[in-house]
Amino acid sequence: MYNQVVMDHFKNPRNVGVIEDPDGVGEVGNPLCGDMMTIYLKVDEDERISDIKFQTFGCGSAIAVSSMLTELAKGKTIEEARHITNKDVADALEGLPKNKMHCSNLGADALHMAIQNYKDKKTGVARKPEQRQEKHEHADGETCHCPYCDVEISSDAEFCEACQRKLTEEEH
Ligand code: FES
Repeated sequence: MYNQVVMDHFKNPRNVGVIEDPDGVGEVGNPLCGDMMTIYLKVDEDERISDIKFQTFGCGSAIAVSSMLTELAKGKTIEEARHITNKDVADALEGLPKNKMHCSNLGADALHMAIQNYKDKKTGVARKPEQRQEKHEHADGETCHCPYCDVEISSDAEFCEACQRKLTEEEH
């Protein structure tokens, strides 16, 4: 069911743990299954991610996604890391089974929130937790999928036509 890259990152996840005194933290929950992912960042003076760690309570795919995400983001500048998408992570894992694609939704979103948190700290903006969630940014050609049934939906759909569930902006 899982390819070897996914199995490797699931069995030997990279960058697991917590960074004490992080420069940025992002936490997201998957609305489908309730799984959670937290990303911790350390950023150097050149705005480069010098350290990144994750804590994920989730399935094997979510662990593999977290691990690959941290590998992709480590050493990148904040600006470069901001453009990493959920699809980039799934592609780097050489794909996830179709019924597990929703598990890749957590990865880049948690990273983007951690980056936003880093920027907010620098500029002194205080956001409430519910304001921290970033809307997905879709790269060219990237499609939106319902987090509940994984059917493709338009990026501004208010509900999924296939399963009829209501969607918030963050769930796209
Ligand atoms: S089943 Fe929850 S993230 Fe995969």
